[in-house]
Amino acid sequence: MAAARLQELAETTQNLFLGMETCVLEIGCGHGHLLTAYAAAHPEKTCIGIDIIADRITRANRKKNRARLANVHFINTSAENFFALFPSQISVSELFIFFPDPWPKRRHHKNRLMQAEFLSKLSRWVTSSSRLYFRTDFTPYYDDTKAALSGHANWDVIPEGAEPWPFEHETVFQARAPSYQSLIARPKQPTTTPPTTRAQ
Ligand SMILES: C[S@@+](CC[C@H](N)C(=O)[O-])C[C@H]1O[C@@H](n2cnc3c(N)ncnc32)[C@H](O)[C@@H]1O
Repeated sequence: MAAARLQELAETTQNLFLGMETCVLEIGCGHGHLLTAYAAAHPEKTCIGIDIIADRITRANRKKNRARLANVHFINTSAENFFALFPSQISVSELFIFFPDPWPKRRHHKNRLMQAEFLSKLSRWVTSSSRLYFRTDFTPYYDDTKAALSGHANWDVIPEGAEPWPFEHETVFQARAPSYQSLIARPKQPTTTPPTTRAQ
């Protein structure tokens, strides 16, 4: 079953990935509100949205078709399967992760997307100018994600206000949230070591 799903995904994405150098990726795109609006505002960018719930992807595709957008692609798959097939020569310029499932109970934290292992894996598809945009209404998840990124060898959290938020368009879960927090992270910049002056 798992192998059949991967095979189906490979067939769906084969042509899509062909010749692609960079893309904007949204994991857990839900009904596609954000990415459809983002793609319409950025016709020069190729956008990919993925979600594990088929009905959400159907609705997202309806939005895309109504807007006659050729630069956004919605795929019904998990992040795990997507990255298993995503060629490492394609870089992700912007990664949107908005209101991922918070898994509030401690024993379920292992199901959360934003964990050190996932952040390590992501590093394969980023360049120094890539940005990760994360938003949640669940403060403990925000705190844990910030800590995971700050303590990670490959990522830095950009200080609040140092860079503008790239795009505002209310998502379904954002509309339901009384409040939320956002952060921007970037791949860790190589440190330039100043030449050492050796005492004689
Ligand atoms: C709380 S909803 C948020 C949806 C949307 N981002 C929003 O803000 O309205 C989380 C979404 O992530 C999707 N999701 C959960 N785990 C996923 C995974 N491993 N890969 C891809 N999508 C996933 C769920 O199906 C769901 O649509």
